[in-house]
Amino acid sequence: MVNIPSPLLDTLHAAQRITVLTGAGISAESGVPTFRDAQTGLWARYRPEELATPEAFQRHPKLVWDWYAWRRELVAGVKPNAAHHALVKLEQQVPDFTLITQNVDGLHRRAGSGNVLELHGELFRTKCSRCERAVNCWQDGGETPPVCGHCHAWLRPDVVWFGEMLPVTLLQKAEAAAAQCEVFFSIGTSSLVYPAAELPFTALRGGATVVEINPQPTPLSDYVAYTLQGAAGKVLPVLLKAVWDSEVPQ
Ligand code: OAD
Repeated sequence: MVNIPSPLLDTLHAAQRITVLTGAGISAESGVPTFRDAQTGLWARYRPEELATPEAFQRHPKLVWDWYAWRRELVAGVKPNAAHHALVKLEQQVPDFTLITQNVDGLHRRAGSGNVLELHGELFRTKCSRCERAVNCWQDGGETPPVCGHCHAWLRPDVVWFGEMLPVTLLQKAEAAAAQCEVFFSIGTSSLVYPAAELPFTALRGGATVVEINPQPTPLSDYVAYTLQGAAGKVLPVLLKAVWDSEVPQ
């Protein structure tokens, strides 16, 4: 049973500017494992933090390329869930809405969200690891990752790896959306990875009401105004119905 406190209902009803930050937990109900879940099957012996680095790619390019190819296949076979759909509805309720995601699965866009900032890149985009050109098609080399048609360096997924900088303009947009909103939601993220984990604090400093939706407490939990404990796919549809009388497709 999801209980939405009535002061939060009032705040949301009056809000004109809402910013949402999502993490892997929002896609969990679609069947995409979160980062800090134990991996299953083929990949059970690797930790994502050990594969998602430039050093891992230098040392084991085929292993890292194949892990991303596996993730692309996994994500291509799943659908956005009620939580993704709820955020599409939420975007229609307020004049100023920004969705910031750490996810690279593209499920927010597939659900129909418009103003999405994909802070950590996108699994289905590929670029050259040297000249950084975007690449749409390639010949699979078999033993190694495919190579760039221009400079013959390996291709890599267009995602941000640990130790790499986030795209500056994207991060600035996210910071501005956090600083200027009236309500900030942190949904399905462990709030451990910076700079994304700083965004709720930017919102707090700007005077926003910060709300966390997560089945588990996180390092952010002690600072937020409201915690809605539970799965995003359960909590968000209840919230949309309670505040805006909006039905969310399941
Ligand atoms: P994590 O795997 O660290 O955390 C997932 C969070 O989702 C946890 O706090 C869970 O409790 C929560 N959760 C699980 N199921 C949920 C559900 N149904 N509804 C709501 N919440 C749920 O994933 P992130 O916080 O996204 O970065 O990880 C942040 C970044 O670290 C990722 O973008 C990635 C990673 O390693 C890079 O690759 C650069």
